[in-house]
Amino acid sequence: MSKRAIITGITGQDGSYLAELLLSKEYEVVGVVRRTSAPNYGRIQHLIDRVTLRPADLLDQLSLIRLIDEVRPHEFYNLAAMSFVPASWDQPMLTGEFNAQGVTRVLEAIRQVDPKIHLYQASSSEMFGKVREVPQNELTPFYPRSPYGVSKVFAHYITVNYRESYDLYAVSGILFNHESPRRGLEFVTRKITDAVARIKLGLATTLALGNLDAHRDWGFAGDYVKAMWMMMQRERAEDYVIATGVSHSVRDLVELAFGHVGLDWRKHVTLDPKLIRPAEVEHLVGDSSKARAQLGWEPTVDFAGLVKMMVDADLDRLTAAPQVAGPVSTS
Ligand code: NAP
Ligand code: GDD
Repeated sequence: MSKRAIITGITGQDGSYLAELLLSKEYEVVGVVRRTSAPNYGRIQHLIDRVTLRPADLLDQLSLIRLIDEVRPHEFYNLAAMSFVPASWDQPMLTGEFNAQGVTRVLEAIRQVDPKIHLYQASSSEMFGKVREVPQNELTPFYPRSPYGVSKVFAHYITVNYRESYDLYAVSGILFNHESPRRGLEFVTRKITDAVARIKLGLATTLALGNLDAHRDWGFAGDYVKAMWMMMQRERAEDYVIATGVSHSVRDLVELAFGHVGLDWRKHVTLDPKLIRPAEVEHLVGDSSKARAQLGWEPTVDFAGLVKMMVDADLDRLTAAPQVAGPVSTS
């Protein structure tokens, strides 16, 4: 019998890769979409005939209970969130409603309808914030630096608490930054690779950035959704850090991306103080040895491979349709 899975956030980067992975494993995939005035299915267009889309919202408890009652999934992947860190200072209340209380609503719905459902919660390395040790592992204390980070700490602990209080199979994946050609244009990797392609093709001349000294542990989203699935197949629910273990600065990223198309980044990059965050996460690097030992997980794409993959994809996209390039990201 094939398994059934619900994915919230299926229209996002991770949701689209996870849907592909689960379909390849013969799952029946039900994706949650919230109502919009126009469809927002760009990342899952190629899967649209193979998944079922159902309306629900993390803000609406009844919509989640009804969804779970009607679908009766074996696995529930909660990927939906307000995921852009700067926006969390502009909308801290809404960020908490989506990312913190939204998770409580999912947990409550599962507890009430069918406590045997396995739940994956999308936790984040942003929870480590002003890091207490290097590298960060499952036992490293949290010190979030944004309303987004704070909301994810709440979500993390409410997931742990429901696991311990009600014996739910609820896992929390503490994933470090992961990217792909499907990454939103406002995140720094994609903002850079999109700009490099535009500049190379003569569609733009400059790129405004904020803190070039921030370091991140960047991996490929396709590798990270495999880890999500692996965590859900265990005997016992536990939390895992997922990371490459290698950290680079935003400056390294810029240099590599421009260099890949033969451009000198110093001639194109400007610094905009408006892009500096009220509180910064300066340096993240993860220790995923637990996941490597227990799940057998490991990344297949390194930093250089990831940057090249993303620049090449943006070049292909903009070469095919330069007239639909859309506005440059200013976030
Ligand atoms: P993303 O591309 O921004 O996608 C977010 C998804 O959440 C979208 O499908 C969005 O739907 C949906 N969503 C937002 N609010 C919702 C609501 N109230 N009800 C229902 N759906 C809602 O994010 P991602 O990069 O795929 O990340 C997936 C998850 O992993 C997020 O929880 C993120 O915080 C977490 N995470 C990401 C990373 C990373 O590096 N990518 C690292 C650690 C943790 P719309 O399309 O309608 O906007
Ligand atoms: N977005 C952006 N735009 N970031 C910039 C820019 C810019 O112009 N210039 C410098 N940066 C720096 C930011 O200050 C930050 O230190 C770093 O680039 C990465 O920023 P983002 O790509 O926006 O990602 P993030 O690390 O804040 O958050 C992402 O990763 C988290 C996991 O640690 C998101 O995907 C979160 O949802 C996720 O939880």
